[in-house]
This record gives sequence, structure tokens and C-alpha cells, in this order.
Amino acid sequence: MTADLTHSAAPDTKRRIFVTTALPYANGKFHLGHMMEYIQADIWVRFQRMRGHEVHWVCADDTHGAPIMIAAEKAGKSPQEFVAEIAATRREYLDGFHLSIDNWHSTDSLENVELAQDIYLKLKAAGFIATKTIEQFYDPVKGMFLPDRYIKGECPKCGTKDQYGDSCENCGAVYAPTDLKNPYSTLSGAAPKMRSSEHFFFKLSDPKCVEFLREWTDGANGLDRHGKKRLQSEIIAKTKEWLGEDGKMGDWDISRDAPYFGIPIPDEPGKYFYVWLDAPVGYLASLKNYFETGKAKANGESRTFAEFMAADDTEQIHFIGKDIVYFHVLFWPAMLKYSGYKVPDSVNVHGFVTVSGEKMSKSRGTGIDPLKYLQLGMNPEWLRYYLAAKLNANVEDIDFTAEDFMARVNSDLIGKFVNIASRCARLLSSHCNGELLSRSLLASGNAVDDRKYIQVFEQIAANAKAILSLYDAREFGKAIRSIMALADQANRFVDEAAPWTIAKRLSGSDDLSSDWVALQQICSAALHMFFDLTVMLKPVLPSLAEGVEKWAGVDSFAWQVPALNTDNTTRLNAFAHLMSRVDEKQLDELFGLLPEATEKATKPQPASKGASGGNAATKPATQGLQANASEKSGEFISIDDFTKIDLRIAKIVNAEHVEGGDKLLRLTLDVGETDASGQPKLRHVFSGIKSAYAPENLVGQMTVVVANLAPRKMKFGMSEGMVLAASDKDGNNASGLYILNPHAGAQAGMKVT
Ligand code: MSP
Ligand code: ZN
Repeated sequence: MTADLTHSAAPDTKRRIFVTTALPYANGKFHLGHMMEYIQADIWVRFQRMRGHEVHWVCADDTHGAPIMIAAEKAGKSPQEFVAEIAATRREYLDGFHLSIDNWHSTDSLENVELAQDIYLKLKAAGFIATKTIEQFYDPVKGMFLPDRYIKGECPKCGTKDQYGDSCENCGAVYAPTDLKNPYSTLSGAAPKMRSSEHFFFKLSDPKCVEFLREWTDGANGLDRHGKKRLQSEIIAKTKEWLGEDGKMGDWDISRDAPYFGIPIPDEPGKYFYVWLDAPVGYLASLKNYFETGKAKANGESRTFAEFMAADDTEQIHFIGKDIVYFHVLFWPAMLKYSGYKVPDSVNVHGFVTVSGEKMSKSRGTGIDPLKYLQLGMNPEWLRYYLAAKLNANVEDIDFTAEDFMARVNSDLIGKFVNIASRCARLLSSHCNGELLSRSLLASGNAVDDRKYIQVFEQIAANAKAILSLYDAREFGKAIRSIMALADQANRFVDEAAPWTIAKRLSGSDDLSSDWVALQQICSAALHMFFDLTVMLKPVLPSLAEGVEKWAGVDSFAWQVPALNTDNTTRLNAFAHLMSRVDEKQLDELFGLLPEATEKATKPQPASKGASGGNAATKPATQGLQANASEKSGEFISIDDFTKIDLRIAKIVNAEHVEGGDKLLRLTLDVGETDASGQPKLRHVFSGIKSAYAPENLVGQMTVVVANLAPRKMKFGMSEGMVLAASDKDGNNASGLYILNPHAGAQAGMKVT
């Protein structure tokens, strides 16, 4: 009589799994794409844990590399401070979306230094490291070699200005950075020079290595320990291109010259590992840290890190997005192989999530902010459910749209699944004292045709195994569809049995014991269905499942419901509301539709028409309140007022502390002026930005200055202008101070209009 999820799902031998998700760059906050990757991994991890397997899931911040070094410098911070600030934002997202990551660490850690250097030395000893002198662009002002992305110039074909070093946005020509005409460094504006330097290479082109990779990706060694392909078919196809007969595999440049935020190469002063060398090592570093801080032990793993990694039964499984496949299926396995470490069991690649068909882009304001989602009080498990319903095991992109989200959550999750409980729980508690009949007691009532609910129980049991395999294979969308089809059947049972009509009769009389029994039977049967479906949805909806467990008085649902399979009735606890519906307004807010409405309302009326083609009048949404206030009191300035202000591009040629001026820096600016003899004439400005910038970080930067502000005599000397900086809404420095930087290419003295 029991709809038994137990036998269909008896766990096989216990697996010990080390899971990772890609380490996010530490120069930006999480976006929806990150959340999607973690939610995918979390569902899989929770599923395996429910099956009794031991899973250790670690992640970390990816901290090294030129972009982070440069971003930190721009922010006037040390790279360590900079990445620590980002790291401090992570917890809120991870907890907020119920992500069960066991350890969060950093690639800028002792463990990572040790492991990366160890792997390198072993590769070197095995003959896999070579050196070669290469020529590269060098920025003489910044004193550093320039990664391609920091070089721009004129297209060699059509002459369009400000093009990157790989292709032209105007004519589509493809070329190398060295082909650019009049190249300049986007960091300093200086013309880069070619300079040579010795680089270290990992010899991926070694025939042994190519052979290993061919075998590992799709050859004799292409299956994991469970006999499944390590890689998805789309990925195998890619690796075939990369490892093709024509031997396209080149050696991999793994070194960068100082200054670089990274891990020093042992015995090679001034040389650092390229960030992508130490980033995946960060997986191991986080795991090591997890063991050495006692967290692994707390999670039931008593071996040491070294023992765990050396054990044959330890599986290593990576979850990543489609943009970083090359690093994970070629470089990383090869690094591990030839340094004597365990190679990955599989690499699970997912596609990208887009929002309303668009790639996420902060600058264009597309995408949705996961933190805003949480702050609006939206239920994190709605998003988990929605993404699960759309995910499959292929490398396919998925699109988030507001309508689709609302439909899936409201019609399926709430309308089909949660609905079963809300329809029956109250009836059972108000008429039957919350006494749930066990599955075996159900049949003894005889007031209801048993076949009706037994059929549904059987359907659930019959599908349990398939659903289990779908979870295991990351086919979450199919699993959800199957579960919802079972929910449909459960609802049909309830519809036909119509317990509410019985309840009505009961309310009118107290002598209808057969009605009373029927009501208890129907509601109990429906709730058993609901509990079974809850078990199946628990990897996706952990917090909802926890609520159901509390209500049912069960410790924790495994992939079975033993506590409710007794011969007794179970007295259910008070039914607490499980989940509410998505409100369209929340989505409007999430998509920024409401702030935009505010912006429209605050746009100036015809009074300022013709003023400026609209630019000066457009206010960012966050300034809505202020704009509104000034509109009311008629405080617009005219274009003539505006043009009175002479804004100029300035280059900061020097910056220094001011003795006795604890908020001030003394800036020496090149505003493009010359004296009578044609010599550059510099200006001095005292600027209250000391709290935000170290002087040495400002030198060489371009900024904007009010050039016609009357010179002001200060205690420390004359100030001949004012540098523009952003602070919080009220003009205070509580959230920091940020000087303005023009886009690359702007020259000192240019007028800002
Ligand atoms: N730091 C590297 C990874 C190093 S792993 C040793 C990196 N960081 S990232 O922050 O850019 O991306 C982290 C993960 O998020 C990657 O797996 C990436 O594919 C994934 N995603 C980034 N944008 C995404 C979407 N729009 N959709 C889904 N996943 C996306 O790459
Ligand atoms: Zn061109």
C-alpha cells in the first residue's frame, strides 16, 4: 500500500565527491549568471547528499591578474583590500539563495601559493616547462607590459579610431594588436613600445600530452568510473577541433612580468604565474583550507586533505560555464596529470542565462540583480524552481523573462504543487484534528474507493526511479516536468474526491461518521502524495521542504518517507503557509520598470526644450527625488548657465600629501595650457580626496576639472580649479569618493560639453 520511494531508490555504494563551481572574478559582484551556476550545482549536490553520498563542495574568489590589479589601483586600494571588499559581499548571496557550498576561500591564499608552486615545480621536473623570449607591447608610462585588451588604436584597414587590437567594430577587419595604427595604452594614453621578455610555457604540444588529452576527452579513458562519458557531446566535438590531427595545440604561456598581482614563480624573480594557471589550483586550495580548518571533519570526512585526494574513490567534478571550457578540459587536466595529482572525473558545462533575450550587461542596464531580487522580498526558491525547470544537461542557453517566470511559479509550483497541501491541510486540521492516516491505515477506512488514490501512489512510485536518474544526469527540466505531471494526477484525485463538499456536510451535523472517515482518508491520501512530491522537489526547494518536514514532524526527508509509513496516525503540526505567489509588481521593480517611471515623471517640461538635445536633463533614476524637488521649485539652470562652466580634461601629473591638510591632496594638473614661451603650464589644485586615494595612484590619470573657477587662496597656497568627484546622493563621502575618468583617448585640455 505504500507509495514506496524506498526500493526504487536504494542508494548504491556510497560516493565521495569533491564538487567545484567556477571561481568568480573578484572584481565584480555576483550577477544572475553566477547564481544560475551555483543553483545548478546546488540542486545536484543536495540530490546526491539526499541519496546518502558524501559531497564536499568548495568555491573561492578568483583574485589575481591584471584587470583586478588595475581596478584596485583605480579605486586607490591595494589589490588585497580590493578583493577583500568583494569577498565580504558574497555571503549574502550564497545564504540568500540557499546555496550549500561547504567552503569559500580565495586564490590569494597561502594554500594556493603552495599548491600552485608545487604543481609548477613538478611540471618542471617532468620536463613540461619551457622558456621563450617574446615581444610584447609595453606601456612606458605605467611601466608594465600591456595585455591586449588595454591597447587601442586606429583600424589598419578603414582608419576608425579607438579600436581594440583584435577586430574593428566599424569594418569588421580582423588583425593583431601590432597591426593597429597609432596604438595607445588605454591605461595611460601613452604610445606603447615593443619590448621583449622571457616567458614560461607549459608544453601542451608535447605529443605525450596531446595523446593524454585525446584519450581523456574521448578515447580509451573517456568514461568516468560509472561508465558515463566524462564530457558532454558538444564539448567532445570542441575538443576534437582543438586536438585535431593538424596539431593545433600550442604551448601555453603561463608567466607574466611584474608588476602583476599574482603568485611568484619559484626562483624566477619578477615573474608571476598567469592568473589562469593559479585559478583552478584555487579549487584545491579551497578544499585544503576546508580540511585544515576542521570543516571537512565536521561534515563527516575524517581523512586528511592528502589522503582524501590520494584515495581512489574520491570523485572530482567541476561545474563551469561554456566560456571557460578550454581551460578546464585541456589545461587543467594536463596540469594535474603531469604534476601527479588526481585528474577530474568530469566537467559539467552549462550555457548562459540571458534576460529577456539579452546578454547581461551592467553598462546597458540589462540583467537583473540577484541582491535586489532578495531585497524585494522575492522568494529565492522561486528562482531555484524556475531555473531548474529550464535547465538540462546540454550546453544550452536559457532565457529569463518576467512573464515566463511568473507563469511557471504561479501556475506550476504554487498552482499545482503547493495547492495540494493548501487544499487538504486545513480540512484535515479543522475536521480531523490534524490526524494523518498512515499509508497502511488508509485502506481500512473503506469510505473511499481505494483504487483512486492507489493509482496515484503507484504512478509516483513508478516514476521515482526515472526522476532520480534525471537528477543524477542534471536533466532538471525533465525531472520537474515529470513531478508536475504527478502533481496533476494528485490534483485530479482531489478534484474528483471533492473533500470540501464532505466538509460542508460535516459542518452541518455531528453524526456522519462515514463522512468523517472519508474526509480523513481523502486528505491523508492527498497529503501523502504531497509529501512524496516534496521529497522529489527537495533538492530544488530545500527551505520549503524543511517547512513541510516541520509540519509533518519528520526530521529530514531522505529519498523515502519512512516516518510516515508507520501503522499509526500522525498528528500533523499546525500548517504554516508554505509559499506565496509572485506579485507582478515585484517583477516590475526587479526589472527596474518602476524607477524608470519615476525618471519620466521628473523629466523637465518644455521650459528647457531645445536646451541641449536632452542630455543635461536626463537624470539617473537614483536622483529622481532631487530632480523632483528642483522641478517643483523651478530650479533649472539654462544652457547659458551651464556653458559658463568651463570643464576641461586634466592629466594629473603629480599628487602629494599636504602638511596639515588632513583631507587634502595637492594635485598638479596639465590642462593643456602653455605659457608665452610655449612651455606646458601646469596648475595646482587642492582637492579633498585624501580619504579615497593614495597620491601615487593618481599620477598619470586623466580627470575632469572646473577650469574657470576663481582661484582661491587657501592656507596651503592657491587652488586654481576644482577636480570633479562623485560621492553619495547628499554629497557626503560616506560611500566613498570617486574622481571622474574620461574614456581612453581624451587628451589634456579638451573641453567637456
Ligand atoms: N574567474 C573565472 C573562472 C575561473 S575557474 C578556475 C571566471 N569568472 S567569472 O566570474 O567570469 O565567471 C564565473 C562563472 O560564471 C563561469 O563558469 C561563467 O561561465 C559563469 N557565467 C558568467 N556569466 C554567465 C551567464 N550569463 N550565465 C551562466 N553562467 C555564466 O570565468
Ligand atoms: Zn576598420
